[in-house]
Amino acid sequence: MAVEARNIIPRMGYGTWGRLGDEGVEAMLAALGVGYRHLDTAQGYGTEPMVGEALRRSGLSRHEVFVTTKIDPDNYRPGKLAPSLRRSLDQLGVDMVDLTLLHWPSPRGELPLAVYLDQLVAAHQAGLTRLIGVSNFTIALLDEAERRLGPGRIATNQIELNPLFKNDKVAAECRRRGILVTCYLPIAHGSLAGNPRLEAIGARHGASVEQVALAWELAKGYAAIPTSSRRERIASNFAATRLHLPPDDIAAIDALADGPRGIAPDWGPAWDA
Ligand SMILES: NC(=O)c1ccc[n+]([C@@H]2O[C@H](COP(=O)([O-])OP(=O)(O)OC[C@H]3O[C@@H](n4cnc5c(N)ncnc54)[C@H](OP(=O)(O)O)[C@@H]3O)[C@@H](O)[C@H]2O)c1
Repeated sequence: MAVEARNIIPRMGYGTWGRLGDEGVEAMLAALGVGYRHLDTAQGYGTEPMVGEALRRSGLSRHEVFVTTKIDPDNYRPGKLAPSLRRSLDQLGVDMVDLTLLHWPSPRGELPLAVYLDQLVAAHQAGLTRLIGVSNFTIALLDEAERRLGPGRIATNQIELNPLFKNDKVAAECRRRGILVTCYLPIAHGSLAGNPRLEAIGARHGASVEQVALAWELAKGYAAIPTSSRRERIASNFAATRLHLPPDDIAAIDALADGPRGIAPDWGPAWDA
């Protein structure tokens, strides 16, 4: 499944965290209008209804837009995951979502992985989702999941990753296992401006630092899911798909020092780095 997943998950997606209400729907329509064909939502974002409305109003057919949702850890207890995903499908107005992720490992490791992973597999087998994957999984958790499922079943691991937080250890492990890395916070929440190396690379290519970051992620073979509430940024971020950085720029970004992780709840897993 991993090889198939690499081909069918659009590498540039539009993140929908914070895109609530009518403004959220308009932002998603703007994203679809400039070419995004992947919307990333989650049960915990409250944006599934907005994604559903944007899909309906876009004029695009269902198979043209790849939809990812994520199961909230509150829905990991036995018997809860599939009904929660059915509610997500209702909100999205679709029969099947393209990709369903476990949003986080069970907070503080409260539930054994098998309890919720097996429910995700059952939801896949029941036809509620085309692909399955994980988010915020560490190497140890990926290993445990693949020991349980066998290789090639986990389509992606969605993790924090950008030029100033490269998450190298888990990204390398994903590559080794054929699991697509999907980068969240791919433009470091808009905080890349002023980084001298990114600015210099951007200046050489007539590109913004955000475009440089996204182009670097795509060049590494990752997917990226930036968000913006503003039309011009929605468009300029997507235009990074047309920016092809030469190997020396890629290497220069690879060599940037990492800053701190942006999202690290105290109930999260024991990160690899
Ligand atoms: N799996 C997980 O646990 C997880 C965690 C976090 C996020 N995510 C997903 O990843 C998506 C993206 O993450 P994120 O929203 O936290 O961070 P992000 O995409 O790195 O950054 C979004 C922020 O950057 C600003 N921005 C966007 N484009 C810009 C540009 N061209 N120039 C300057 N600033 C720009 C936006 O402000 P404006 O709106 O003002 O443009 C917004 O505040 C989320 O929407 C969500 O779908 C997943």
